[in-house]
Amino acid sequence: MKKILITGGAGFIGSHTAVALFESGYLPVIVDNFSNSEATVLKGIQKICDKEFSFYEGDCTDADFLQHVFKSEENIEGVIHFAASKAVGESVEKPLEYYYNNIQSLITLLNVMNDQRCSLLVFSSSCTVYGQPDKLPVTEVTPKKQAESPYGNTKRICEEIIEDTVKSGALLKAINLRYFNPVGAHPSALIGELPLGVPNNLIPFITQTAAGMREKLMVFGDDYSTPDGTAIRDYIHVMDLAEAHVATIAFLEKTAETSYSDVINVGTGHGNSVMEVIQAFEEVSGDKLSYQIGPRRSGDIEMVYANADKSQSVLGWKAKRSLKEALDDAWRWQGTLKSK
Ligand code: WQD
Repeated sequence: MKKILITGGAGFIGSHTAVALFESGYLPVIVDNFSNSEATVLKGIQKICDKEFSFYEGDCTDADFLQHVFKSEENIEGVIHFAASKAVGESVEKPLEYYYNNIQSLITLLNVMNDQRCSLLVFSSSCTVYGQPDKLPVTEVTPKKQAESPYGNTKRICEEIIEDTVKSGALLKAINLRYFNPVGAHPSALIGELPLGVPNNLIPFITQTAAGMREKLMVFGDDYSTPDGTAIRDYIHVMDLAEAHVATIAFLEKTAETSYSDVINVGTGHGNSVMEVIQAFEEVSGDKLSYQIGPRRSGDIEMVYANADKSQSVLGWKAKRSLKEALDDAWRWQGTLKSK
């Protein structure tokens, strides 16, 4: 089986991508420093796939560590690079940590990949690079805007580092995947989003409120220019997102050019408001959710959702799971956390 290195593979999207890779006949090799994940996630992947895989604990800013992984695994076919710090609010408080970790880990990885003649790269980028788009839905040529946070800035800078490396003639074929809002969990409830600490994101806050761990959900603003006044996002099931990574690896394997880079949006192509998410969740859980309308959260944008045509035309991939399916899977996953 072809080996694919997943940096940050014990994380939320990384762990689900490991499962999707196994399901498509690849062999994942996982690297993680457990800064925002736990070893139990590796057991979950093993239980779902019923297969063994290599795991290395370490940091992607450490070239010797990455060299050791490549030498130990010999023929790594390609890399999916998730490893990064990703809390928007935290990045505002700790910009230097974010710039160092997110950018240095990419530079180190690219150097080691070049040294090891590994030429396939899928990079975990984000729709954050668009800021508040002037026109919706967002296509890949929608102008990038000054990021609202150091986190978003690191994603924009990393995309440019990859593009410039390819332009320099390096033997690298890379695609930057710009995610919209990943939500949900694997239907087995053996892996999901491990919100370590108070969740920033909407869905874990909803499920923790419904589970009685939080008193109520604060809805950040209902005075936006949207149909119900609450902000709109493109919520994509994490398993759809995982499968998009596998489709991207397969596409890069077939790409004839030896130096190639592109960007592709990974979203469902439609948006839902916070209130629509709450209503959908109440249908899933069968209970009313306790929430209160509060002020807007600083840095939030009003509305963003993807034009998903390019992912379909280039990768032959499109999201196939609904928001309710994602909420159902997230709720089932939350049910397992109480017992942890
Ligand atoms: C979604 C909506 C909130 C919590 C961020 C990153 C993005 C990506 C996904 C990494 C917004 C509202 C939320 C709450 C609320 N991460 N909300 N009450 O901010 O769209 O995107 O996470 O790649 O890069 O920017 O996601 O889930 O925080 O918020 O009303 O307690 O839910 O205002 O409208 P966001 P989110």
